[in-house]
Amino acid sequence: MLGSELLRCVPQGWEAVGTDLAPQATIAGLDLADEAALERAWREHGPFDAVLHCAAYTAVDKAESERELAERVNVVASRTLAQTCARHGARMVAVSTDFVFDGASTRPYVESDEARPLSVYGATKLAGERALLETLPGNSAVVRTQWLYGPRGKHFPRTIAAFARERGELKVVDDQTGAPTTTLELAPALWDVLASSENGLFHAACEGSCTWFGFTRAILEELGLTHVRLEPCTTDAFPRPARRPAYSVLDSSRLARLRGKRLTHWRDALKAYLQVETP
Ligand SMILES: NC(=O)c1ccc[n+]([C@@H]2O[C@H](COP(=O)([O-])OP(=O)(O)OC[C@H]3O[C@@H](n4cnc5c(N)ncnc54)[C@H](OP(=O)(O)O)[C@@H]3O)[C@@H](O)[C@H]2O)c1
Repeated sequence: MLGSELLRCVPQGWEAVGTDLAPQATIAGLDLADEAALERAWREHGPFDAVLHCAAYTAVDKAESERELAERVNVVASRTLAQTCARHGARMVAVSTDFVFDGASTRPYVESDEARPLSVYGATKLAGERALLETLPGNSAVVRTQWLYGPRGKHFPRTIAAFARERGELKVVDDQTGAPTTTLELAPALWDVLASSENGLFHAACEGSCTWFGFTRAILEELGLTHVRLEPCTTDAFPRPARRPAYSVLDSSRLARLRGKRLTHWRDALKAYLQVETP
């Protein structure tokens, strides 16, 4: 989802190459946790000045029963990429998640807040952050984002739109608060962090906040599906294998200082996304 958007907004004067396990990528079939394969790809397609790392094991619930694979992708691949960048003198920026927090806060999380993940996914992402920042301390950054959606991939607005058209009534959790963030907003911010020489942690989310219920109401309004009956419910009504933070709004002030502007408010970003695509 995010990688494809990054390739659509490569800054002027830069040249970027996409990699994936999938055969459609320019560097296809590359497992980032495989050090020898990575080194071969670097020599064949590089040299590279920098790496924007947004590959991940992202199946939050499945990770609870696939810890080993989640660790391989979220920790080992991060460390291997960081070591490769260190060997070649390249900068690296990786993407991480609000799920590193436990959700007990009552105000937006800043980068210096203590991370206490509730899930295997969150724990492996946190370990991946640390692997990068420890391996490449003078030339790397981690950008945590949340509730991501965009023109490619599976995501919440797409699922909600499909359910709403099929069912005519929806029940959505109203006790988890975050900030829906589009890849259209996030991708240019990631290029800016990569182009800067600022290191360490950044938070990057659209402004404002809502619950999944509030987000659903906005999606239905924008799609003209207001006849669909929408009911709020609690997280307990939909038991899932992975625990999620009840409150994970990210304070993106550091990123705003770097860029001289904030990401768009989530409600306006939703409108802008729906002008590009109808889910
Ligand atoms: N989606 C969200 O709501 C959200 C929220 C907060 C943070 N994030 C973070 O944002 C980043 C981008 O997320 P996304 O939603 O764009 O993820 P995505 O659509 O699931 O893309 C991740 C990509 O990584 C690839 N991948 C998995 N294992 C790999 C390996 N060993 N080597 C190379 N590639 C591998 C996947 O390939 P396959 O599909 O073939 O497995 C997939 O194409 C991730 O770091 C994620 O943790 C996402």
